[in-house]
Amino acid sequence: MGEKKIPRHVAVILDGNGRWAKKKGRPRTFGHVQGAKTLEAMCETFWNHGIEYLTVYAFSTENWKRSEEEVGMLMNLLREYMKNAIRRAVDNNMKVRVIGDLSRLAPDLQESIHALERASDTNTGLKFTIAINYGGRDEITRAVRRLAAQAAEGALRPEEITEQMISESLDTAGMPDPDLLIRTSGEERLSNFLPWQLAYTEFYFTPVLWPDFDEDELVRAIDYYNGRDRRFGGVHE
Ligand code: FPP
Repeated sequence: MGEKKIPRHVAVILDGNGRWAKKKGRPRTFGHVQGAKTLEAMCETFWNHGIEYLTVYAFSTENWKRSEEEVGMLMNLLREYMKNAIRRAVDNNMKVRVIGDLSRLAPDLQESIHALERASDTNTGLKFTIAINYGGRDEITRAVRRLAAQAAEGALRPEEITEQMISESLDTAGMPDPDLLIRTSGEERLSNFLPWQLAYTEFYFTPVLWPDFDEDELVRAIDYYNGRDRRFGGVHE
């Protein structure tokens, strides 16, 4: 058997925190706390498996529609996370980046995000990207506006615009496109996550709820990526 192919960049839609908590008879916010813990542990696990880039969907442009209590709690969780993240990023040699439209976040949260990005910029371990107030169509719209502004100034002719230039105008500029997308909790939708970047990506959907995601589940996703399921997936039964 040949070497296992390891996806260089894995994108994850962290889904099912609310249902996980409900199953335990706890408030949805308890699921988010556990989800954040699972995420911390998984950063190390992904890196140990040879994955170089991990990009996660933590808060979408649609998530503002949730109850004020839940949105407030998620923002506080992110605030807490950012506070401890500088130390953690240094300890784990992780390079952290946040994508999305950060202008709608509270100023103190924006400042701690920038501090975290600056402090971890030269780290050479896992490239960990967190999407906050992120929507793929919003990201593309912001990129198109920037290119259009250059065209309007006469710095760029419309026919000179290439796919490469569009990629480099997105929030993910400089990152390779994801090789594998994982979505937990049984939902099989993209929900506006990285629509441009996922054009050629393999998708792995699992019923496991995000707080329960673990190393075994990651191995199953990598095996799926290697096409093992297609060879051994019950065809001899
Ligand atoms: C989806 O579960 C999860 C979210 C909208 C939030 C994800 C956030 C975290 C894991 C924690 C914060 C992140 C960081 C980086 C500290 P859901 O609420 O949609 O679950 P449901 O579909 O069961 O309702």
